[in-house]
Amino acid sequence: MEFVDDQPMLRMTWTDPITGKNGFLVIHNIVGGFATGGTRMRAGCTLSEVEGLAYGMSLKTTVFDLPAGGAKGGIDCDPKDPEAPGVLRRFLSAMRPWLNTHWVTAEDLGMPQEVIDEAFDDLGMDQSYHAAIAGSSKPARTLRRVRAGLSSAVPGGQLLGEVIGGYGVAQSCLGVAQKWGNEPDRTTVAVQGVGTMGGAAAWYLHEAGMRVVAIADAAGTLADPQGLDIPTLLEARDAYGEIDRSRVSESVQQLPREAVLFVPVDILVPAAVSYAITQHNVGAVAARLVVEAANMATTPEAEVELAGRGVPVIPDFVANAGAAAWAWWLLTGKVGDDPQDSFALLHGEMRSKVAELIDAWDDDRIAPRATAMKLAHARKQYYATEIVSRRRAVAS
Ligand SMILES: NC(=O)c1ccc[n+]([C@@H]2O[C@H](COP(=O)([O-])OP(=O)(O)OC[C@H]3O[C@@H](n4cnc5c(N)ncnc54)[C@H](O)[C@@H]3O)[C@@H](O)[C@H]2O)c1
Repeated sequence: MEFVDDQPMLRMTWTDPITGKNGFLVIHNIVGGFATGGTRMRAGCTLSEVEGLAYGMSLKTTVFDLPAGGAKGGIDCDPKDPEAPGVLRRFLSAMRPWLNTHWVTAEDLGMPQEVIDEAFDDLGMDQSYHAAIAGSSKPARTLRRVRAGLSSAVPGGQLLGEVIGGYGVAQSCLGVAQKWGNEPDRTTVAVQGVGTMGGAAAWYLHEAGMRVVAIADAAGTLADPQGLDIPTLLEARDAYGEIDRSRVSESVQQLPREAVLFVPVDILVPAAVSYAITQHNVGAVAARLVVEAANMATTPEAEVELAGRGVPVIPDFVANAGAAAWAWWLLTGKVGDDPQDSFALLHGEMRSKVAELIDAWDDDRIAPRATAMKLAHARKQYYATEIVSRRRAVAS
């Protein structure tokens, strides 16, 4: 089997018998018996979007050498719709043959980890990593480790499982800044989306001393050239990652939603929707670097235009892969519930990969995505020879 092929092995469309809403599962490839990828929920989600995301997952698992292929789930439903919990449970029930043994899913856009875990628990599958846990040699022990890791407390009142992906995104940004000799306190950032990924990325960039001058949620952009008070704003979020405007200081400018993309900053982090930067709006993007926390945040045409203007894009399947990598490190016992171990491992992995991408850009103007694709293809050979011995690699 090709491990980084751009044709998925399976595309499935499900229609909810009660609401008529559609859900999708795309399995891009299976490695060691597993395919991994979150489940998103948003009104307007399509099969082709999920297919692109599943492909991205296969690249992440390859680049980060995870014992799984790539997959993705998607449900075309507004997460705030009162029908959403029922639609999610019926979708998961219908996908059960895959969820029992092969598909390892998790949070994604519009789907916090606790929401998907609750649905799995209701269906008697304990936790969204069910297939990998059930396939491990000591399922009860693996489940305990996964639960302890996900719920380990970190500074800021958050849980490790909620922040680790955004921590990885922050390391991508900090890694490039370090390579370019930019001191954090002289570096400005804009973040589109302050949910699981964007919120944690903003937190760790702010904590590292960078000036986060603009953030956006679904309701609009908040900006302050002096730097936003990120901890206070994140504290004012609801469960959907939206900030209560009544708790926003008067000194903060309130701008239209898309404005976050056009603020002149050193680093722009799209961390919300796919297709955020397109050929229609790329002309107004004024950042020096784009780090994709959201999957498929930049369209290929927009990325070419940015490269032509000297703006590199650190691609999603490297920059945001910390969440997926960490889930498998937890499953296989590489990390446990001590956040410092997880942060140290992800710091090292992310910084070294990003350094390789940005060196190729700085030296030869090779787009980071092209270097990352080369890394993925190099891993393919490794998979071809090693995968048999790594089958069912989940440790006890
Ligand atoms: N959660 C994960 O573990 C994970 C891992 C890797 C990649 N991702 C990707 O990161 C992106 C965000 O996922 P998440 O889990 O953080 O989602 P989330 O639902 O937790 O947060 C989404 C945030 O984006 C905001 N938003 C929604 N539409 C917007 C718009 N049009 N303009 C500006 N802001 C908008 C929301 O208000 C919220 O703040 C997605 O592309 C997802 O695929 C998520």
